[in-house]
Amino acid sequence: MSGLFITLEGPEGAGKSTNRDYLARKLEAQGLEVVLSREPGGTPLAERVRELLLTPNAEPMAADTELLLVFAARAQHIAQVIAPALARGCVVLCDRFTDATYAYQGGGRGLSEARISQLEDFVQGDLRPDLTLVFDLPIEVGLSRAAARGRLDRFEQEGSNFFNAVRQTYLKRAQAAPERYRIVDAAQPLEQVQVALDALLPTILELSRG
Ligand SMILES: Nc1ncnc2c1ncn2[C@@H]1O[C@H](COP(=O)(O)OP(=O)(O)OP(=O)(O)O)[C@@H](O)[C@H]1O
Ligand SMILES: [Mg+2]
Repeated sequence: MSGLFITLEGPEGAGKSTNRDYLARKLEAQGLEVVLSREPGGTPLAERVRELLLTPNAEPMAADTELLLVFAARAQHIAQVIAPALARGCVVLCDRFTDATYAYQGGGRGLSEARISQLEDFVQGDLRPDLTLVFDLPIEVGLSRAAARGRLDRFEQEGSNFFNAVRQTYLKRAQAAPERYRIVDAAQPLEQVQVALDALLPTILELSRG
């Protein structure tokens, strides 16, 4: 595949969606063809799975069910959107991907890393992001930003232990593979976050040239 696969990760309200759109404008200004997507979701079918995952429901969802739904949506998203876009040579900017599975279903729900890794290999083959930006901030800051949007989704209703585990899992993964990850201090004012993203542009442009 000749394109470039960039994922944006981080807890609720970290600024993933806001900065994904900012980065897209910057890359398009450099003449790159950018495809924006998000997980869970990214295709009509995968968005229906997203609804199942995010809508609070009286029936508790087993952790394994949640994990399999995440990967079912991902299989569809890869087949319909990500793989074709990369084959066309596009830059794919995706709001959450498999690092979120390690963080939420692994760190948050306590599922084993080994089990997630098996599904990652099964669903993705050797597809991995070329670059992952981890937007890091104290969880209460992110949750208060997200809460300002209104009703809480099924994950946002979790407590601080869950979200601290999510944050720590992201940081641990980023620290273990610094060549693939960049940690962005997302607690700063948005203008400062975007200065940090501007500083990453040369790296991204170089990666996109292969
Ligand atoms: N650095 C920042 N400082 C202050 N507010 C910010 C900052 N970044 C984003 N915001 C605001 O916080 C809210 C959440 O941002 P955004 O939706 O981009 O986060 P997200 O990481 O995509 O959240 P979610 O995980 O819930 O989708 C938005 O209202 C956005 O304008
Ligand atoms: Mg978002």
